[in-house]
Amino acid sequence: MKTLFEKIPELDEFAEVCGYLSQRGWSEGSGGNLSFRIKTPSYIATKHKNTSNPVALPVAVPELAGQSLLISGTETRAREIALRPAENIGLYIIADDGQSFYWLAGNKNPTSELPSHCAIHQTLCRYRPEQRAIIHTHPPLLIALTQCAEFQKAEHLSELILSMQSEARLQLPEGVGLLDFHVPGSLELGEASAKLMQYHQIILWYMHGALASGKTLSHALDQLEVVNKAAEIFWILKSAGCEPCGMSRENMQKSLSQFGRLQRYEQAFNYQHRS
Ligand code: 13P
Ligand code: ZN
Repeated sequence: MKTLFEKIPELDEFAEVCGYLSQRGWSEGSGGNLSFRIKTPSYIATKHKNTSNPVALPVAVPELAGQSLLISGTETRAREIALRPAENIGLYIIADDGQSFYWLAGNKNPTSELPSHCAIHQTLCRYRPEQRAIIHTHPPLLIALTQCAEFQKAEHLSELILSMQSEARLQLPEGVGLLDFHVPGSLELGEASAKLMQYHQIILWYMHGALASGKTLSHALDQLEVVNKAAEIFWILKSAGCEPCGMSRENMQKSLSQFGRLQRYEQAFNYQHRS
């Protein structure tokens, strides 16, 4: 018989998305991690007070107080999360002061990228509360982009890569953010990511991977697929010895204007010019 935790409907989507990440070869070994913010199930709301001790969070998350998080466990494999979600995903409730959390069910050892997941959920709650999902994964075509000398500026990378396919920038008018190298799992990486995720739904971590937010985990995966497809076209052209030129600025503007997204595109990197 299934436990109440195993019956949480979001676990199924979590498992499904992990299966896709693994099939794509984006989450080698235990690479990558995911989290999803849920309204605390009523049967659980009081349980934590009796069953577990508070654990200090690496980042304060006052906006998340009282909410719950599904988080992949550290060193869990996406291919195994897909098969046995309840063993590999943990459920936690954030304490009322937003400084600590209580483990409730499932895996007890959250991902080493907990600082990033916490800091980004805090940013999402404030700026895009409808977005409740975060995926971090290691798509090779995107990691390769971060190592190209010509793409050290996010604005330029977004302009060229998202012009490889006529709908990519329509999906992501704000473009893709780019972070310098930070030690994996560090608080520094978490804080820098959260800052950038205020402006972008996808960011690339130099030499490391990608991170996406979305309304659901499937939606966050959609965003990653869009950027990955565009990068694939770029690398196919490069490998064939062609210089990728992408859509003209005029066609890009025409399309974005038709979909009412031109302003989002034109203001995408304005934050870089502020202090
Ligand atoms: P975890 O196994 O701790 O989630 O780490 C994987 C990873 O990709 C770190 O960036
Ligand atoms: Zn990683």
